[in-house]
Amino acid sequence: MNKIIAPSILSANFAKLGDEVRSVLDAGADWIHFDVMDNHYVPNLTIGPMVCKSLREFGIKDFIDVHLMVEPVDGLVKMFANAGADLISFHPNATANVSETINKIKDLGCQAGIAINPGEEVTVAEQHLEDIDLVLLMSVNPGFGGQKFIDAVLAKISYMRKLIDKIPNEVRLEVDGGINPENISVVSEAGADTFVLGSAIFNTDDYSNTISTLRSNIT
Ligand code: DX5
Ligand code: ZN
Repeated sequence: MNKIIAPSILSANFAKLGDEVRSVLDAGADWIHFDVMDNHYVPNLTIGPMVCKSLREFGIKDFIDVHLMVEPVDGLVKMFANAGADLISFHPNATANVSETINKIKDLGCQAGIAINPGEEVTVAEQHLEDIDLVLLMSVNPGFGGQKFIDAVLAKISYMRKLIDKIPNEVRLEVDGGINPENISVVSEAGADTFVLGSAIFNTDDYSNTISTLRSNIT
């Protein structure tokens, strides 16, 4: 799997979001990670499907990776698919039926991901591994950017890497939270292939330099 750098727009300057997304992609980012929080599943409130639609209307054609930290899930799946999402990941304990939500995402033409919080087992992701396109392992407790990477998640990344390497279908292993140029190599060595970074990118003044440093630190 090629390595993907997916800046989380949570830390972008929302007063000029379109320009920020354009410049981080021009600076070498592969995907845009779109963190959706509903102040119910997590204690914060961010952006909805209309912002995703606005980015598409602004001319962003690149891959938009939507991370739903919301409960319930299914209604927003449809709205984000219609708003131009390419991939939609959700937290399994936020939906009544994981298989139904996965099927709903795929029936709407999007790739499907399961997101697992730091304190949670990967069991649900394991059970659905042959039906999904991505596992998202949170390396911070969801809700805010700029938190510290939880090192205990490294073992979970390695465990999930071994599981994914045993199955026939291609599943991406994405890690989200507290990643920076100093720790991205250990996250990569543990087995991640898709890296979400918010503050470590948007809090710097040269996105190209930051992204090329990150890429060179990915083993
Ligand atoms: C947490 C968010 C953050 C964000 C990344 O709910 O999902 O993990 O994407 O933020 P940083 O890179 O600043 O930790
Ligand atoms: Zn996220």
